[in-house]
Amino acid sequence: MKSKTFNITITLFALLFSTTSSAEWNGAKWNEANKWNSGGEEQDKALLLKPDIENGRKVWETCSACHLQEAWGTKNGEYPQLAGQHSTVLIKQLADIRALNRDNPTMYQFSLPETIGGVQAIADVVAYIQRIPMTPDHGIGPRKDPENLEKGKELYEENCIMCHGEHGEGDAKKFYPRIGGQHYKYIMRQFDWIRLGKRRNANEEMHEQIKRFTRNEEINVINYVSRLKVNPKLLAPSVFWHNDL
Ligand code: HEC
Ligand code: HEC
Repeated sequence: MKSKTFNITITLFALLFSTTSSAEWNGAKWNEANKWNSGGEEQDKALLLKPDIENGRKVWETCSACHLQEAWGTKNGEYPQLAGQHSTVLIKQLADIRALNRDNPTMYQFSLPETIGGVQAIADVVAYIQRIPMTPDHGIGPRKDPENLEKGKELYEENCIMCHGEHGEGDAKKFYPRIGGQHYKYIMRQFDWIRLGKRRNANEEMHEQIKRFTRNEEINVINYVSRLKVNPKLLAPSVFWHNDL
């Protein structure tokens, strides 16, 4: 089990860096003048490259220390599920994180060319992740009473559906992320950061749409999103499925 030992080593490093690399966090606010998805060298290049799955699998050893071997992340929201996310979105987010256009001090070190390789590695690992089915058991929100669920549904239909789709499936061509099937606590954090202007690569239109949300509305809408049914074809057959792809 060579890769297990490797993963543990990486995790230890991760813990070390997550406390020391906060210098990378420059606290800068999202700049409204920045045009969303204006592209960048790595993003544009990675989208065009022909992926090498073998190398993607190798790169994944580094990523799986946090996102787990199955790419399902963790229910406590610390690590997002990557399985099921559109390749365009994964490429954009990775390129943004590497370029410090999205602050991620925990992961930053592990995303760099020195660690995983150049732009080809982005294309490779993303193509590998695309093969992995989603968890059938993601973290869901706390509210199950019909009244709050109905409120969440109304908020979703008024404010989100036009971009994230009826089932939270997003839109690969437009770089709109899939949010259905993602862990409640992770999407809660991201939503909050986007609302507050703290996630700098956020979409201005989305920020505009949600900036007046109250805390209660925020919980209701994300609670609803977390309870959207995921297309069963995208899911792993059981929680015991093991990724040896
Ligand atoms: C040290 C832990 C760690 C490692 C290693 C790591 N990540 Fe992450 N990653 C995170 C954390 C934490 C987040 C969420 C950060 C946040 O809340 O904004 C994240 C977020 C992401 C996102 C954004 C997901 C989204 O929904 O927008 C992508 C894509 C991603 N990671 C891919 C990778 C890939 C590919 C690798 C391997 C090259 C990797 N990560 C390695 C910790 C890690
Ligand atoms: C105008 C289109 C638009 C609207 C409206 C919109 N979003 Fe988004 N949303 C986006 C885009 C684009 C991103 C990705 C931004 C980026 O590139 O980092 C995003 C990102 C997110 C994320 C982070 C996903 C991740 O994996 O990190 C969440 C959560 C989210 N949106 C939830 C919502 C909810 C809930 C609503 C409604 C209350 C909403 N959005 C309305 C376009 C939109």
